[in-house]
Amino acid sequence: MSSTGTGRTPFIAGNWKMNKTVSEAEEFIAALLPRVSSVQGVDVAVCPPYLDLQAMVDSTRGSRVQVYAQNMHHAADGAFTGEVSAPMLRELGVYGTIVGHSERRQYFGETDETVARRTEAALEHGLHVVACVGETEAEREAGQTEDVLRRQVSVLSADDSMVIAYEPVWAIGTGKTATPEIAQEAHAFIKSLIDAPVLYGGSVNLENAAELCALPDIDGALVGGASLHVESFAAICRAASHS
Ligand code: PGA
Repeated sequence: MSSTGTGRTPFIAGNWKMNKTVSEAEEFIAALLPRVSSVQGVDVAVCPPYLDLQAMVDSTRGSRVQVYAQNMHHAADGAFTGEVSAPMLRELGVYGTIVGHSERRQYFGETDETVARRTEAALEHGLHVVACVGETEAEREAGQTEDVLRRQVSVLSADDSMVIAYEPVWAIGTGKTATPEIAQEAHAFIKSLIDAPVLYGGSVNLENAAELCALPDIDGALVGGASLHVESFAAICRAASHS
């Protein structure tokens, strides 16, 4: 089995964000499954919007593709209009959830504290977690990258069911991928803070995925835009399997 420099099986997760209706998601997964069924040595997940989750759990059953939510509230139930809880995701058969994506932090007021609470609750309820961290462009330019990462990671505790995703905010959806040197340096720093696999995220595409995933401290990728197209997502999964 191929593996990353750390001996871990690479993990490729597609974060669809607010894209794909149920019928579009079904069409996508029907095309994806045959394309990744024989790709060895890589774990694959899709992270669709809530409304697609049931259909994705049903259509990936028995396949190698795991289904993650994009977010989750820390309370099991209660007066939290618009939110979804871990027991709701578990009952559907969802495998895990992203927590603390920078778009949640930027547009929906999530803080290190809410990210920590959501992560804890997800793990307690048996969900796997992709916990996102990453600095903004202004923070990087001000030389604060390590301080920001230290603060964001300090609220998380290592857990076998949790991976970190390092997503520099300036690289998300901008086409500006971190150079391999920047990514490797940040990943090594995060691993000095917490014992967890670390995925890279931010403009990953089929041109740069193989090089990024081959770096010693990069254990896979959280892919946004390029995960929406079945050919590019399948190609990224294949590239990671050779890393
Ligand atoms: P991107 O998004 O690949 O479109 O940059 C990554 C993410 O936000 O997870």
